[in-house]
Amino acid sequence: MIPTIKWEGSHILMIDQRKLPAKVSWYRCRTYRDVIGAIKKMVIRGAPAIGIAAAMGLSLGASSIRAGNFVSFKKRFDNIAGEMLLARPTAVNLRWAVDRMRAVLETSAKSPVIAIKEALRNESESILTEDIEINHRIGINGAAIIPDEAAILTHCNAGSLATGGYGTALGVIRAGHEMGKKIKVFADETRPWLQGLRLTAFELIEEGIPVTVIVDSAAGSLMRRKMIDIVITGADRIASNGDTANKIGTYSLAVLARENNVPFYVAAPLSTIDMSVKDGDRIPVEERGSDEICIIRGRHLGPRDVPACNPAFDITPARYLSGIITEKGVILPPFKGTIKKAFSSQQA
Ligand code: MRU
Repeated sequence: MIPTIKWEGSHILMIDQRKLPAKVSWYRCRTYRDVIGAIKKMVIRGAPAIGIAAAMGLSLGASSIRAGNFVSFKKRFDNIAGEMLLARPTAVNLRWAVDRMRAVLETSAKSPVIAIKEALRNESESILTEDIEINHRIGINGAAIIPDEAAILTHCNAGSLATGGYGTALGVIRAGHEMGKKIKVFADETRPWLQGLRLTAFELIEEGIPVTVIVDSAAGSLMRRKMIDIVITGADRIASNGDTANKIGTYSLAVLARENNVPFYVAAPLSTIDMSVKDGDRIPVEERGSDEICIIRGRHLGPRDVPACNPAFDITPARYLSGIITEKGVILPPFKGTIKKAFSSQQA
């Protein structure tokens, strides 16, 4: 498994996900603004990976601050954090990671600036290694609910590339495969960025897990033909009532799964739950440019001026979820009580 993101001295290297699977190349970030640009341009994507990149980017930004005292250091740090928060709006992991870095800064108030910089770098490294550990735990918890022989449908890429490593939805699939379950995966291609075709298929083939790609609109037909036993996706933000934001097309899958009696699970770390948001209507959904839809391989395939609506995510109401697979176990409906309980167990 190639690492999604890593430190190389004072630079950050990320696998350039826009080029996969044709080319495995590293995108070098020398400044925090390079990191913000990389998140915006989809060099790195996937909620947990965005959070990790933001933490590392903040550390990179902090390392370049010239300040003689804590107050001026903090002022500059807060400006960088403010810029970082605007990189992409939907994945709460970004804000979560920024908050963790801010907390380190606050507790280092009495330390010399050089020690603060070191503490921030260490925290960014911990966020990365913890994420990988959490994904392994999500994998084990999720694999327990996968039948011994299962056709699993997934959407977008919630794999190693979307995280620090191992993946959330793909972590569950990986763990099931490692336990000897006979798993085959159907991967939605995931228009317009084709994360399913390019990234999920790439990861699963590398791993030797059977995978078949389908166009997004084929999912319902496969379910109706009893070709799917379970749907597992990742999440970008889960509201406190269980409503879930994930890649555009997830909502349709969940409704189709209910219609066809197929269980629908979301796999995500507890850090993806946003207890400050009451329901899915309050989750900001990123709108991206029309070119992503209309320009294919550098060519306008439709009329030049046709407008396109390109929401990058959608909201799946909690009532469609069979469960949320987390590092602390599987949260089951009714979510109002169970999410709160799982969340407070994490705080404890
Ligand atoms: O636009 P992307 O590629 O960042 O969207 C990614 C997704 O929607 C993933 O399913 C989600 O972030 C979970 S990744 C573990």
